[in-house]
Amino acid sequence: MNRQVLAFLSLLFINAAFAQIIYSVPEEMPKGSLLGNIARDLGLDIKRFISGKARIHTRSSDEYVELNRERGLLLVKEKIDREALCAETELCSLEFQIILENPIEFYMVTVQITDINDHPPTFEKGEIQFKISESAVTGATFVLERAVDDDVGINGVKKYDLKPSDHFALKLYNSADGNKNVEMVLQKPLDREKQEQINLVLTAVDGGEPQMSGTMQIVITVLDANDNAPVFTQKTYKATVTENSPKGTVVATVTASDSDEGSNSKITYSITNTQGNVRKSFEINPENGQVFLTGNIDFERNKHFQVNIGATDDGGLTDSCKIIVEVTDVNDNKPEISIMSKSNIISENVEINTVVTVINIEDLDSENNGKVECFIGENLPFILKSSSNNFYSLVTDSELDRERASEYNITVSCSDEGVPSLSSSVTLTLQISDVNDNAPVFERSSYEAYIVENNTPGLSIFTVKATDADWNQNARVSYILEDSSVNGVPVSSYVSVSADSGVIHAVRSFDYEQIKDFRFHVKAQDGGSPPLSSNVSVKILIQDQNDNPPQVLYPVQTGGSVVAEMVPRSAEVGYLVTKVVAVDVDSGQNAWLSYKLQKATDRALFEVGLQNGEIRTIRQVTDKDAVKQRLTVIVEDNGQPSRSATVIVNVAVADSFPEVLSEFTDSTHDKEYNDNLTFYLVLALAVVSFLFITCLVVIISVKIYRWRQSRILYHSSLPVIPYYPPRYSDTLGTGTLQHVYNYEVCRTTDSRKSDCKFGRAASQNVLVMDPSSTGTMQRMQGEKSILDEPDSPLEVSCL
Ligand SMILES: *[C@@H]1O[C@H](CO)[C@@H](O)[C@H](O)[C@H]1NC(C)=O
Ligand SMILES: *[C@@H]1O[C@H](CO)[C@@H](O)[C@H](O)[C@H]1NC(C)=O
Repeated sequence: MNRQVLAFLSLLFINAAFAQIIYSVPEEMPKGSLLGNIARDLGLDIKRFISGKARIHTRSSDEYVELNRERGLLLVKEKIDREALCAETELCSLEFQIILENPIEFYMVTVQITDINDHPPTFEKGEIQFKISESAVTGATFVLERAVDDDVGINGVKKYDLKPSDHFALKLYNSADGNKNVEMVLQKPLDREKQEQINLVLTAVDGGEPQMSGTMQIVITVLDANDNAPVFTQKTYKATVTENSPKGTVVATVTASDSDEGSNSKITYSITNTQGNVRKSFEINPENGQVFLTGNIDFERNKHFQVNIGATDDGGLTDSCKIIVEVTDVNDNKPEISIMSKSNIISENVEINTVVTVINIEDLDSENNGKVECFIGENLPFILKSSSNNFYSLVTDSELDRERASEYNITVSCSDEGVPSLSSSVTLTLQISDVNDNAPVFERSSYEAYIVENNTPGLSIFTVKATDADWNQNARVSYILEDSSVNGVPVSSYVSVSADSGVIHAVRSFDYEQIKDFRFHVKAQDGGSPPLSSNVSVKILIQDQNDNPPQVLYPVQTGGSVVAEMVPRSAEVGYLVTKVVAVDVDSGQNAWLSYKLQKATDRALFEVGLQNGEIRTIRQVTDKDAVKQRLTVIVEDNGQPSRSATVIVNVAVADSFPEVLSEFTDSTHDKEYNDNLTFYLVLALAVVSFLFITCLVVIISVKIYRWRQSRILYHSSLPVIPYYPPRYSDTLGTGTLQHVYNYEVCRTTDSRKSDCKFGRAASQNVLVMDPSSTGTMQRMQGEKSILDEPDSPLEVSCL
């Protein structure tokens, strides 16, 4: 250090020639440091200094410098701080005088203080803050505080440095006061989104040696500007929604972000579609971007939607995206069945495989939900054939028969394959139209009817009925009497049939004794085209009426009865006196005869067998009994009402014929006969005699005729009684007789001997007799018969 000072001294020595000594010393020299050898520099002897009492004269109060007289040296008395002494003045010096006395001499001494770099540049604040909008344009300047350095000259602030220098550059310029001002210039746009805060360090450096520096922090806060638009996370979103989803179902959520902050990043979502269907069906929550349903979604109308969405921040910047919404089908449509043909009538004789109708099926759903299967009920004579593409034809599968089923309710059911499956059905009512394929059918395979004889002509006998399974005209039955003949007479003269009703009427009055039954056919014919018919056999049975009274065959009743039966007085009890024989041409009960004793001379002597007509004694004959006994026997049939006939039987109780004759001649006349009667009797006798002869001739000729026909001659030793057949049935139950039957009648000429012939009642109703003892013939034809038949039985009448 001292050497340095010395170097200065030698340099400044030249200036001393101007009688002014100038020293240049650096500041901050320690106390006692040598400033200069003033004595030598003044060319004065130390003795002179001492004698001259050399001293420093200064006006300032501060004394930095002291004079060492004995050595002639100037020394630092106080440490000299240039900055304190001169502040910013660059040329800083201490000026004082050295005064000598005896003689007075004075010398000007200037001590120049040179600066040393003992102060760094400093900033007033250690940190300054800026708030700069990110939208600030490049070139914008920001004034910075300048640094201060107490040193001067080269030791003052020399330059500034700003780090980092990405965005800003420094610009220095001289201000009016001569100082250098510092500005910061924006070189490159700021981006808050990248860097919200920038920290810079401004360094000021001086020019001293060694160099010193000072720093200041610059904190820049970048303010946001709405320089970022919202951005969706995806440009296209995909979503699926099931049709018929309820309102409010969230379909998708879109998200957009905005790098700005505050209101610049507040995003509002909206749907930007203009088509109505999207607008009606979707809505978006403007705050959170949830897209939800507001209307019904129908897959069958829209299979997908494109929802356009916009996002806007408060600064008005926007972005857009779209959501492709696929609609998922739900099985919500039933199959629709439509029947194509209008006619629902089909004839019953159509062939198998005839198409009845065509059915079209439609299901609006897709895939399996729209796949449809159809079927019809079982047990129907139809099948459903699937033809092309959703068409089915209903065809007949077997023969139709209107009579079995005139109408079919065919239910066509269709169901799709969705889960759960939907189905629908349609019922087709098919009428089967009639074809005349059924003949009329009589209710019975044959008919039998009964009619009581003596009916009034026109009486309806009964009704035949036939039914026809067909319909309407095809089932309208008419009845027709088939042509045939009964006993050679057309049946139409016996009966007629009412065409509409089938009522059978009798055309004439029938006589059982003439015809007992007959048979004919009735045809039933329907109104179809061609007509169908069938026939039935009808048998009419004529029923007997009690229209004939019994006919007494024996004893023969003549005008004057002289014939008498003989009873010997020796006759035992039960002696068969005679037998009353009667017939009835009616049949059954009407011909069931009973015999009763009506009157008798002596009721106690005889009885009549109720059924056989046998007259027997019931007690021993005595001598007291009159020879001449007269019995009146009544013969009754069993008809309702019954008819009867009476017969008088004369009995002679005698042992010999002369006795009888005498008796009968003696008392020929009863008291009831008067004289006139005698005359009539004689007359009658004569007539009878004549008739007898005539009849005898006729009978002989008839007998010859009969003989030729070799009829059975029947002999019997016993009397024949009316015969009741084994299958006789009572009339009370049914009023009818099941069978027509014949009976045989014989007449006895007396109780021990009989001789009879009989004919067949069906063909010949006349019993011809040959009562040789009486020579009479009996007509047995019913009096009421209408004898108009050509083949009327042979008939002989005798009186
Ligand atoms: C068909 O349906 C109709 C109406 O339901 C009904 O009156 C008729 O009896 C049905 N026919 C058959 C054969 O079931
Ligand atoms: C009645 O019908 C049958 C067949 O059913 C037929 O053989 C017969 O000839 C018919 N008779 C008459 C009299 O028409």
